[in-house]
Amino acid sequence: MRFLVTPSKVRDASVTVPGDKSVSHRALMLGSIAEGRTEVSGFLAGEDCLATLAAMRAMGVDIQQASATEMSIEGVGLHGLRGANADLDLGNSGTAMRLMTGLLAGQGFDSVLIGDESLSGRPMGRIIKPLSSMGAKIESRDGKPPLIIRGQDKLQAIDYELPMASAQVKSAVLLAGLYADGTTRVTEPAVTRDHTERMLGSMGVSVVTNSGTIAITGGQQLRGCVVSVPADLSSAAFVMLAALLAENADIQIKNVGVNPTRTGVINILQSMGADITLENTQLLGEEPVADIRVRSSKLRGGIVDPALVSLAIDEFPILFVAAAAALGKTVFSGIGELRVKESDRISAMADGMRILGISVDETPDGATVHGGRFSGGIVQSCGDHRVAMSLALAGTIASDEVIVDDVAAVDTSFPGFRDVMAAFGAEISVSDEN
Ligand code: S3P
Repeated sequence: MRFLVTPSKVRDASVTVPGDKSVSHRALMLGSIAEGRTEVSGFLAGEDCLATLAAMRAMGVDIQQASATEMSIEGVGLHGLRGANADLDLGNSGTAMRLMTGLLAGQGFDSVLIGDESLSGRPMGRIIKPLSSMGAKIESRDGKPPLIIRGQDKLQAIDYELPMASAQVKSAVLLAGLYADGTTRVTEPAVTRDHTERMLGSMGVSVVTNSGTIAITGGQQLRGCVVSVPADLSSAAFVMLAALLAENADIQIKNVGVNPTRTGVINILQSMGADITLENTQLLGEEPVADIRVRSSKLRGGIVDPALVSLAIDEFPILFVAAAAALGKTVFSGIGELRVKESDRISAMADGMRILGISVDETPDGATVHGGRFSGGIVQSCGDHRVAMSLALAGTIASDEVIVDDVAAVDTSFPGFRDVMAAFGAEISVSDEN
């Protein structure tokens, strides 16, 4: 499947985007091991979260769906999961695989976790190492999936210093910490998204964060609760940039998660001159949400603050497009983690944007993007949802038609992407050719 994108005009509009991927995964996993019922609304019915849903059901959890976005999870308690009869297929989702490994490391049964071609190439040594030092028994193919997790009744708490800023690794260790004797402490080199900590808190678990160290004591029971999933800022970011780059647009995106560990994209775009404001900010359970108002703006390049990288980790493909549309050059550094995402996102974006006439200099952990004008052309998504959508966005402001190949992965995180873009005038059609 490919996207055909024609240069388009964005209208004024109020739009909504689907639920947050990170919060949806956690609602399923934590709701499953809680005692009592967890009611979830605003769930992201994207392929990644549906893989987690299927895995929890395969381990015996009763999850009823009133609609695609609303579900009721009958928690089985900390020790109520049972071994699945088959391998757990987590598709494209690194979050599902890493968090689930933490959750399953201290269960009394064996599990096998598999994924698609992209996930099968992603590094799992980063979770195997700390979990093994807690006593987990995990086999892999040279640090990559499939993962075989051997049943292990008891884990030991550890103090772990994360070598990289990763909410997935942090969360895997914290979830295993629930099954460990003693208090597990994780120290992060930079603040990463804290949805696990917040949701555990709203389920009655004490998680203490102090100067970059997060502590959890094993054996605490989770209590089912109500989870209202905010709209995903990582999806809203595509709409934000489309509005910023259009002429005379003034749009509002409703009810978006603005947890401060996620809002780096807003800060970076504002530092480039973007007119973005937050309205109606309020708490939805433990997560802050706001309506995001975006007005067309002239962007300018500059040096992107490396301190904001972990707070905007999924938005760099979009920020590369912003940089290409900005005046002057934009320097990104400290973004080496992008090379081990669903694709090597630095190379995938640099290659795509070069085909569309933009000059990009790559370094091992960064890139300099020289502002210019996108031309038409045929570009590759490398099977990566965020690269596909970012290059499609480039097409909406290009001088000619842009074709983005291999875009099926968009459904992993943003089902309905084309409809949302169409709602405010961005024309993206699909063709089955590839
Ligand atoms: C996620 C954490 C991030 C992010 C991913 C979702 C999560 O990965 O890229 O899309 O839900 O914890 P890392 O923490 O590995 O950087």
